[in-house]
Amino acid sequence: MHEVVLHIAHGGPALARLAAHAGVLDAGEEASAARFRFAADRELYQAAHVLLRRALSAQVPVDLAQWRFIRGAHGRPEIDPIACPEARGLRFNLSHTRGLVCCALSRGLPVGVDAECPRPMQDARAITERFFAAEEAAAVAAAGAPGSAAEATTFRNLWTLKEAYVKALGLGLSMGLADFAFRLTGSAPAAIALHGPAGADHPAAHWRCLLLHLEPGGWTLAAAVPAATGARFQALLHTPDGADATGAALAGCTAATELAWVRAVPMAAAHR
Ligand SMILES: CC(C)(COP(=O)(O)OP(=O)(O)OC[C@H]1O[C@@H](n2cnc3c(N)ncnc32)[C@H](O)[C@@H]1OP(=O)(O)O)[C@@H](O)C(=O)NCCC(=O)NCCS
Repeated sequence: MHEVVLHIAHGGPALARLAAHAGVLDAGEEASAARFRFAADRELYQAAHVLLRRALSAQVPVDLAQWRFIRGAHGRPEIDPIACPEARGLRFNLSHTRGLVCCALSRGLPVGVDAECPRPMQDARAITERFFAAEEAAAVAAAGAPGSAAEATTFRNLWTLKEAYVKALGLGLSMGLADFAFRLTGSAPAAIALHGPAGADHPAAHWRCLLLHLEPGGWTLAAAVPAATGARFQALLHTPDGADATGAALAGCTAATELAWVRAVPMAAAHR
């Protein structure tokens, strides 16, 4: 069974603690951080990239500041195999959204992760009709009245899964979102099925996807990996003091997908 490790940090104190270590970022990351107009966006970016370095250094004995990255055809970041030969085969993906940063690590297989914060949606139907597969648009329309919380939750679940999938493929939003569809059936957790697209790098049946709801912030987090023989996800919550104040609930998963455990990691312990 393929192992994927999810590292998650959320809330003002945790993000500030991570961003305070922005000195470990490289020149490219510093330049990207400097381009943000608002301090909160800059801090979120720094926190995500410090968290990523901590996650990588927990897997491979490389100092936080020594990691170097390259970008693929559609801008997907990867570990630079020349600068960091010790990390051969290690793949990652990261996501940031208001109040939360996360990254996913996987050996040998590409992985995608996406996180979304809750927000009121007045236009969920229009977006899904225009960009999603027809069966997904129908699921959002059937979920609840326009502008309702149920409609917004269904939209966010599908959107987060779709982004995690296109990020795992490395294509980002250059891929047509109507060319494939996620279906969620049942609840607590829902069974997730993926349909299409034809001719993709990995057949739909090989994908293992996970959907989490995190409280108290109401974030939605999805991860996707093409692990034909099944996948086990571990979720690590990086907290300033190691106290686990987060309720991470499994909202859905594909067949042969396990959430092995969720546990809190005190930040000081994880810094090298
Ligand atoms: C990747 C993408 C889906 C990000 O979505 P988002 O919800 O706005 O942002 P998230 O926080 O979830 O993810 C952002 C992270 O995804 C990663 N990322 C960027 N491009 C990626 C890609 N093609 N595939 C996978 N991950 C990607 C980066 O680490 C980025 O964070 P960073 O800028 O801090 O390094 C979107 O920006 C996209 O489609 N980018 C590709 C654009 C493209 O195709 N350009 C073609 C010109 S080469």
